Amino acid sequence: MIKNVKKLVHGLKGNIEIPSDKSISHRAIMFSSIAKGTSRIINFSNGEDPKSTLKIFRQLGVDIAYKDEKTVIVNSDGKLRQPLADLDCENSGTTMRLASGILAGQNFNTRLTGDISLSKRPMKRIITPLSLMGAKIESEDNHAPLNIYGNRLTGIDYNSQIASAQVKSSVLLAGLYADGTTKFTEPYISRNHTEILLKYLGADITTKNTTTIINPSELTAKDIIICGDISSAAYFMAAALIVPNSDIILKNVGLNPTRTGIIKVIEKMGGYIEILNKEKISGEEVGDIRIKTSDLKGITIGGELIPQLIDEIPIIAVIATQAKGETVIKDAQDLRNKESDRIKSTVCELKKLGANIEETEDGFIINGKTNLKGETELNTYHDHRLAMSLYVAGLICDKEIAINDFEWVNISFPEFAQLFQTLQN
Ligand code: S3P
Repeated sequence: MIKNVKKLVHGLKGNIEIPSDKSISHRAIMFSSIAKGTSRIINFSNGEDPKSTLKIFRQLGVDIAYKDEKTVIVNSDGKLRQPLADLDCENSGTTMRLASGILAGQNFNTRLTGDISLSKRPMKRIITPLSLMGAKIESEDNHAPLNIYGNRLTGIDYNSQIASAQVKSSVLLAGLYADGTTKFTEPYISRNHTEILLKYLGADITTKNTTTIINPSELTAKDIIICGDISSAAYFMAAALIVPNSDIILKNVGLNPTRTGIIKVIEKMGGYIEILNKEKISGEEVGDIRIKTSDLKGITIGGELIPQLIDEIPIIAVIATQAKGETVIKDAQDLRNKESDRIKSTVCELKKLGANIEETEDGFIINGKTNLKGETELNTYHDHRLAMSLYVAGLICDKEIAINDFEWVNISFPEFAQLFQTLQN
């Protein structure tokens, strides 16, 4: 589907509720599937990725039913069963990497497959630590499909070279089924939804600095309320900052400190951002965000901040085109392993709009402020985050743009374009 986006002349105004967090939705399904009892998952994501996880855990024998559009009931005896067919993770790296951790320690075999984009993404990062625990995983040169032969696992003390929540979660979940203690250390703290939710469901898990320790545990079912996704909110934050005369409130946004890098960046760039009504829900910090059109300046972003905003880098690039001076993104080489090579794809598409952006090995350098030009056709590279970032760029282009294959937004945020409409009336 081609999406045409026109310059927005009147600014964004009003309040919207941000839809469910994708990362937490995956985990809610997986962890309630291996917990004993009945869980109600409230505000489950409507995105294709979490739905891939839901389908897979149904195939693994768990009774999972929708009570209404956003409420899912999971009934489990805590055990998974041999599936009758391959488990298709479609476009979802989180599904494949986290499920592998759970499946490595079962007493049956599984085969995990993915779409073209997922089949190109690196799996060595989970195969290496899981194999050290005793997992038997066969792959296509460290890529999907993965044949997982359920095996007895032993805890390890693992030092990860990358700050990746998917790798950390995969190892910690395998640790639930391993003999002895599993210890995982990462260079910088990555998102910690796994640790929070496992603890909430009764696991023996503790974190100190960048090391998490888990012991085999039985989980107990509980209601899980999922907050709004800050990664989805980021597109609205960006649009409000750069579209003249905007002033909006984003409600029910997850504010877990391992995810709020985007807020720190906006503050550092000089953007107007205010946090309201902070509270804690199912162990996670949540609040509302007010944000207004602002004069922005370029900054440097790297180091420990990168995992806290890893999915927001394409939209930060769009913001940076409207900031005065130089913005440097560095230490972000793992962006090349996302749904697309997000360094290449972001640079290539923003250049078509006349942005002053140059690719580096581990990020890019942007000089602003640049008036973006439209009358061009942009590509999405099977990448939902790129599609949404380009849409926001289109709101400030002098002429209309056309975005190809815009339906990729459905991976995390099917409500995206419609929610934008509600802020334009
Ligand atoms: C995710 C972790 C991040 C992020 C992805 C979701 C998760 O990936 O980019 O969209 O839910 O754990 P990495 O762990 O590969 O950095």
